[in-house]
Amino acid sequence: MRKKLIAANWKMYKTPAETRDFFRDFLPLIQNHDRNNNDEIVVCPTYLCLDAAIAAAKDSDVSIGAQNLYWEKQGAFTGEVSAAMLVAVGATHVIIGHSERRQYFGETDDTVNLKLKSALEAGLTPIVCVGEVLEEREAGLTDDVLRRQCLRAFHKVSAKKAASLVVAYEPVWAIGTGKTATPQIAADAHAIIRAEAAESFGQEFADKLRILYGGSVKPENAHSLMSEEGIDGALVGGASLDPKSFAAIVKY
Ligand code: PGA
Repeated sequence: MRKKLIAANWKMYKTPAETRDFFRDFLPLIQNHDRNNNDEIVVCPTYLCLDAAIAAAKDSDVSIGAQNLYWEKQGAFTGEVSAAMLVAVGATHVIIGHSERRQYFGETDDTVNLKLKSALEAGLTPIVCVGEVLEEREAGLTDDVLRRQCLRAFHKVSAKKAASLVVAYEPVWAIGTGKTATPQIAADAHAIIRAEAAESFGQEFADKLRILYGGSVKPENAHSLMSEEGIDGALVGGASLDPKSFAAIVKY
């Protein structure tokens, strides 16, 4: 009942020319993919490559998203990009609160909340990332961390406004490390997130909410992860940079 979503997070990789090359090679590999019957596919390049990606993915089944945004509409905010600007160039999705932004760029639960509200307001589909670091998992705090991150991200967001919301569970210890959460670990975390969403938005909303798994997703583990009942897709970093491996994940 929940349509799966497979998203590529390209992080700070690829120039516009490399973006065009990717789509030239990737699109033929997924030519039998049908948006109506299959999963949703989203590619999130850097801001600089949005234009090239949108042009290259035109007439295909692939949607294009950004990796971040700023919550004000416009103004003296050097280096930032607003939700309305992303919409204006044709982006449809946006990743919010990725752990690398939390770790290196001062992203907090409160800025995630502001960004979520502005993305929803502009009509973007937000992919809000949550996840515990290794010390938190080892200290038995995973449940608390996920609940806190969700609760604060969803603060004063109504179920009606949040309809397009997607959450990505990304255990920080699994990102870029080659360590994947077992399908069971991921499914347990997804259940916590779904329970928190039920508290914030109601059970009906939570039943429809898509929760992706991210952290060292590869062609080899995509199938077992995606077979879990509560896992509604993947947010893929490293393995999404290569057209063949991303196509293999899309076809899990
Ligand atoms: P990874 O990254 O697939 O390279 O672990 C996932 C992510 O950071 O979204």
